[in-house]
Amino acid sequence: MTKPAILFVCLGNICRSPLAEAAFRKAAEAAGLDVEVDSAGTAAYHIGSPPDPRSIATAREHGIDIFALSGRQLEADDFTRFTYIFAMDHENLRNIRRAAPSDHSAEINLLLDLIPGHEGREVDDPYYGGDDGFARTWDEVSAAAEALVKRLSG
Ligand code: 4NP
Repeated sequence: MTKPAILFVCLGNICRSPLAEAAFRKAAEAAGLDVEVDSAGTAAYHIGSPPDPRSIATAREHGIDIFALSGRQLEADDFTRFTYIFAMDHENLRNIRRAAPSDHSAEINLLLDLIPGHEGREVDDPYYGGDDGFARTWDEVSAAAEALVKRLSG
């Protein structure tokens, strides 16, 4: 079996999806899982930008350096390169599904659907709020990351 490839997608690829990527990379490494991981945004606003400083600080608190990540936009190839694509919110999910080529192979779902009891919920966008929003984002994406590792390990 080829190794699973997971793509996390938000709007700008500077706040939520880089944290989801970091949380999942850490959880997968701890579990000894061989995976490919990346993140992208549905919008083009932040192509080439590092993550938001508040995301960098949040990841650092959890021992992960995401400074070197660079924002990119979701592209057609992603729908065949990745086994799973996870959207942070319903709007991302709609935009991802709309951009999907008709012959795509990726499974596309909402990230928090991974957590029993949280199906249909969104990882709220912390961009316009205070720092506490980023701590909450971390809690949500890391809970989903643990659930995904468990599922892929099973
Ligand atoms: P993200 O947050 O989708 O979690 O990366 C946002 C980042 C930037 C913008 C909106 C949301 N923006 O409007 O520039």
